Amino acid sequence: MTHMHVAGSIHADTIAPGPQWLRLPEDVNALLPVLWSTTVERDDEGILTVGGLRATEIAERCGTPVYVLDEVDFHRRARSFVEAFAGWDVYYAGKSFLTTAVAGWALADGLFVDCSTGGELTVALRGGVPGDRIGLHGNNKSEAEIGMALEAGVGRIIVDSFDEIERLGRLAAERGVRPRVMVRVTTGVEAHTHEYIATAHEDQKFGFSIASGQAKEALRACEADPHLELIGIHSHIGSQIFETHGFEVAARRIMTLHAEVAREFDRELPEMDLGGGFGIAYTSLDRPESPEQLAGALRAIVEEQAHDLAVQVPRMSIEPGRAIVGPTTMALYRVGTVKQVVLDGGATRTYISVDGGMSDNIRPALYGAEYSATLASRASTAGARLSRIVGKHCEGGDILVRDEFMPADIAPGDLVAVPGSGAYSRAMASNYNMVPRPSVVAVRDGALHTLVRRETIEDLLALDLGYDPVP
Ligand SMILES: Cc1ncc(COP(=O)(O)O)c(C=O)c1O
Repeated sequence: MTHMHVAGSIHADTIAPGPQWLRLPEDVNALLPVLWSTTVERDDEGILTVGGLRATEIAERCGTPVYVLDEVDFHRRARSFVEAFAGWDVYYAGKSFLTTAVAGWALADGLFVDCSTGGELTVALRGGVPGDRIGLHGNNKSEAEIGMALEAGVGRIIVDSFDEIERLGRLAAERGVRPRVMVRVTTGVEAHTHEYIATAHEDQKFGFSIASGQAKEALRACEADPHLELIGIHSHIGSQIFETHGFEVAARRIMTLHAEVAREFDRELPEMDLGGGFGIAYTSLDRPESPEQLAGALRAIVEEQAHDLAVQVPRMSIEPGRAIVGPTTMALYRVGTVKQVVLDGGATRTYISVDGGMSDNIRPALYGAEYSATLASRASTAGARLSRIVGKHCEGGDILVRDEFMPADIAPGDLVAVPGSGAYSRAMASNYNMVPRPSVVAVRDGALHTLVRRETIEDLLALDLGYDPVP
């Protein structure tokens, strides 16, 4: 029996329908360059290598699951943003993935570091990033976090509520300091993946709405507080954005606000931030723009707006996280079981269970994120079979890669690599089912370094105090 499949006529008695965008590969071992970090290739035996090391050796030395960061690729991406956006400040969004080494690399590559909690701020400082190269975000910064930021002399604090403006002003006055402050605004533009929406209302927790007038009120409140140095407007419109039209609408709205307050305050605010959210390739469908293309488009938008509104172009900044660290890292899992599940209509779906899952990468379960995968421990001569790569957790939604063509002979013991795993995966990891979180290792020129060690069950048990009286 042969079914027509969206990807063509294939051995459909062993496959189940996949999404329309997924194409049956001519060679199931082929690597689509846009998905993989710079140094990834297959060696003569067909084993996946990164930074000159075989995936099999990395798995043997580090165990699995393991997140493998291609160090050369990190620096290449970081520097290409700095070069393409010359004259602008590029903040690495630490929420995407931050360790002390990564913070140090970001600094060395010419980036600033954007933190959103006291925890991230501590890591950045421990990584050697000077306070004035750090920005602090967050919609509910505690007094302790604000205090820490003021003591570290962070370069800018992005305020997000009237409560915070009051709190920050008070804490700055107590310390006799005058922090540089940006006001986070919502432009009514919300962009995700291939779409964006621009509306009049902003029903979300971040920022002050321009449409309601609250953004201007917040700017006035900061300007009026002698303990705050208001430097500009900040806008972040979303994540995994592939086209610049959303930025264009947002930039037009914040430049208009910028020009209005310039007239009211009788001074032009010196800075402006357009946020992050630049898309990366998770699947063959994704076509990310290069930093050069992004920089060209964003510069043109801002310059045109400044010209039309008769204001200077402020000192601009952006905050990419995913676009710098996302593609640098592959997650490496070991296959534990392979199961054929019969679906309605008689088709089967291959479920490949690996030794990680939603505890190390919640993105597919959280918001349906798509990923790709390849067999890493060998090349296969078998045909491609539509498969689903799932984790080991007690949730039906514990899916890592919803649809991918994997070799039909994949078997327990094989290694599977998932590219594009550097951002918001290990950073969002949990201990669901008491699963210790994987290590993150960096590989470069055949050398392996641990950035974050693997957790052990003893680490988790150290938090379990039995039945300890609270003092
Ligand atoms: C304010 C802000 N800046 C930057 C980023 C980084 O976004 P991305 O990693 O998609 O570039 C985020 C992500 O949530 C954010 O909220």
